[in-house]
Parts: sequence; C-alpha cells; structure tokens
Amino acid sequence: MSFHQELRVAESIARQAGLHVLRERARHMEVSIKAPNDLVTNVDRSSEQLITAAIREHFPGDAILGEEYGVTPGEDASQNTGSRRWLIDPIDGTANFAMGIPLYCVSIALQVDGQTVVGVIYEPNRDELFSARRGMPALLNGEPIDVSSCDRVANAVLVTGFPSGRGEVFERAIEQFVHLTRSSRGVRRLGSAAIDLAYVACGRIDAFWEYGLSPWDTGAGYLLVECAGGKITDIEGAPYHVDGPSILASNGALHHELQNALRV
Ligand code: IPD
Ligand code: CA
Ligand code: CA
Ligand code: CA
Repeated sequence: MSFHQELRVAESIARQAGLHVLRERARHMEVSIKAPNDLVTNVDRSSEQLITAAIREHFPGDAILGEEYGVTPGEDASQNTGSRRWLIDPIDGTANFAMGIPLYCVSIALQVDGQTVVGVIYEPNRDELFSARRGMPALLNGEPIDVSSCDRVANAVLVTGFPSGRGEVFERAIEQFVHLTRSSRGVRRLGSAAIDLAYVACGRIDAFWEYGLSPWDTGAGYLLVECAGGKITDIEGAPYHVDGPSILASNGALHHELQNALRV
C-alpha cells in the first residue's frame, strides 16, 4: 500500500489543528497542572478533539491513540482494519505554548502493524510542514530534506529533553547533558521532542536523545528521520520502538560515537 491518501489527509488535518491552536491561544487559553512540571491547556484538548473527529471522518475503522484522551477504538467494525492506529500529539511543546514561546507543533502518525507508515509534524508559527511516507524521501513544505553530514561529536550541535518526573532517569539525563555540553559544539533543549526529531531530519540539528517519551511524541518524527537518511535506535543501541524506554536519533555518521559518549 502506498498510503498516499493517508498522508494527504494527515497533512491537511495537521495544518488545520496548527491554525486552531494559534487562534485559540489568542482567544482563550486556560492552563492547568497535570502533575508537577507537567502542564496541559484547554487548547491541547480541543486540538485533539478536532484531529480525532477529522480522522474518524476519513478512516472510521482506525484506532486512535492521543495524549489527552487515550485510546479510541475504530467505530465502524465493518471497516475495522485492526492493525491500523493513529498517534496524535495535539500540541507537542505544551510548556512553550503555555508560556508564549513559539516552539510547539502538532504531530500525527499512522502505524500499521506497529510500524509508522505516515508521519506529519506541523509547526504553525513557522508555517513548516514536515511529512514522510515510508519508503519515500522526507519533505519540508513539499521539498525533500536530508540529515546533516557532521561526523564528529566535537563538531555536533545536539538536542535533548528531560522527563517531567524526578528520579534516577532524570539524574542520568542531567549527567549526559553535562558531559555532552562539554564534549560537543552545544546541546539545545527546545521543549518539543517532535520538533527535535524534525530538525534532525532536515539537518538543523545533528542528533537527539531522550528518555521516557511516549508513542505520540516520537511516532511521526522517527519516520521523518529514517526517510531523511538518519538512524534511530534506543540509547543503548537496541532497535527503536515507540513504546521503548529511550530514543537516539542521529544523522547516522555520528551515531556510534554519540552512543558511546552517552555511557557516562
Ligand atoms: C513533551 C515535549 C518535551 C519532552 C517531554 C514531552 P508535551 O511533550 O515533547 O520536549 O521533553 O518529555 O512530554 O507534553 O509538550 O506534549
Ligand atoms: Ca503533555
Ligand atoms: Ca508530547
Ligand atoms: Ca502534547
């Protein structure tokens, strides 16, 4: 299957949702606290509702997993294709969104048999639409994109993020951040894992790593990186899975050296 139609639909929905979040932020935003260091807004919820309704309209048999409302099984049993599941992050970068930092996006992916086949990330403030279909080049606003060619950690610009909870994994992530800040050209913390992955895919950043992400954070972005010629594993070097404990996404050339450097 080519999933051409699914890609077109996902692109259109991501744009609509991106414009929705921009508009609603200006109109009426209420911030609440899910857990310490973990914010959510009414706009995260309305964006997910908009995306879910639009997917339902086009693909009523498909299951949907979104950050704010969890799993919705396919409604129309006669069209239930079983193995198809959409992953939705209605706003990735909610803390930025809540504070007014213009670095957030909408992320939509379609998985079939556990593998992403379509991935779309839309950054409304920059009007940038990243999209990928398995087996095809990754695109930014319709133009093919490539990962960078940097092949030494010492020359690399990296990005990471930290789990909202405090504990052993958080401390390990901080140690890695300190070590890589010393040994690379710099480590950014943008606050949106989907944007981090999209920026690795288009070569703005050489590599990204993070622990404890969820399928909706990385479902679209990891396909973008693969389709742009990059490499994805977990931080230990094992094959990547969206339900796995960590992600290491790079341009490929840096992967091995960075994986060793993360063993601090
Ligand atoms: C968060 C962002 C952030 C990452 C967090 C995620 P949210 O997603 O992707 O970069 O560090 O772990 O939870 O909550 O803004 O959708
Ligand atoms: Ca969140
Ligand atoms: Ca997220
Ligand atoms: Ca989110």
